[in-house]
Amino acid sequence: MIDLDPRHDRIAAPLGEALGSVATIFEGQIRSEYPAVADLCTHVARYRGKMLRPTLTLLSGVAARGGDVTVLESHDLQRLAAVVEMIHMATLVHDDVLDEADDRRGGSTVNSLRGNETAVMLGDYLISNAFHLAASIGDADLTERLGRVTNTLCEGELVQLHHRDDLGLDFQTYLEIIRRKTAVLVGACGRLGGRVAGGEEATCEALGEFGERLGIAFQVVDDILDLEGDLETVGKTVGLDLRKGKLTLPMILLLDGSDASVFVDAVESFRSGDSTGLLKMLRESDAIDRARAFAVEQVEAAIVSINGFDLGDSQDLLRDLAAAVVERNH
Ligand code: FPP
Ligand code: MG
Repeated sequence: MIDLDPRHDRIAAPLGEALGSVATIFEGQIRSEYPAVADLCTHVARYRGKMLRPTLTLLSGVAARGGDVTVLESHDLQRLAAVVEMIHMATLVHDDVLDEADDRRGGSTVNSLRGNETAVMLGDYLISNAFHLAASIGDADLTERLGRVTNTLCEGELVQLHHRDDLGLDFQTYLEIIRRKTAVLVGACGRLGGRVAGGEEATCEALGEFGERLGIAFQVVDDILDLEGDLETVGKTVGLDLRKGKLTLPMILLLDGSDASVFVDAVESFRSGDSTGLLKMLRESDAIDRARAFAVEQVEAAIVSINGFDLGDSQDLLRDLAAAVVERNH
């Protein structure tokens, strides 16, 4: 769970309780009478880390109601929080197949333990359960919106695959890829969390923009950690973007701002998969700092997008949540 300042206990304490209920709903939904399936579900429950998406969903519900914590008892809001986490889990299980990753959240990935067929099917089981659970909320428009989110997510991954090994990938296309594959789901947590809690349209939109900008910042930090983090701290296989021919923001900035000789060396290192050489070049340039500065700008813009709305003291928690996204090292 994300550490929330104890000064905000009026909201943080019931939020912690609601997150406990979300975990119970999650586990109940994917429970299977077959031990083979149940074992996999137990394994995937370990993937639950910071619970960023359910936390934002619940907190957006409180915010949309001007800081009223009683909405945290809403079964529909809790179910929505479980749905977004389940969608996220499904994408991670599939993503690890695509990336051929061995480690996630300090443990082995499903594909490395059980192979790709099992991981693909487990991802399918999770996405299917997510929509089964979403349908039980009984709001067809909500389910339709969630469907649009998962369509967008898949498009983001497909566009990313299309640009594999593309050294000409520009900033705008990179931004569109990460918006689709990551930010749109985080935006939905804000927008739909507010909506299920009965918030006004304009407030829900602002919370949606807050989440989307947070999602962009989150993915940029994730891409930086993939380049300069280590397995022990980050808890998942690093260096995969380069190995999989994915150009991310630090590389785009390095190639864009470098003189001809650095450009040629960087391209050569990228093509040959020389991550040590590339990291040295990135460190000698200001590309990683500029990428991090872009993530900070997104967080600041996220905070601005919810200014002027009556969110009560939940505004402070949303600010803490935003800061945690860029301050993290895992
Ligand atoms: C992480 O990227 C990946 C995503 C945010 C999206 C993955 C989506 C899919 C694989 C599509 C499958 C969709 C459904 C609906 C099941 P990353 O590899 O940069 O992050 P990582 O460092 O956490 O691996
Ligand atoms: Mg990955």
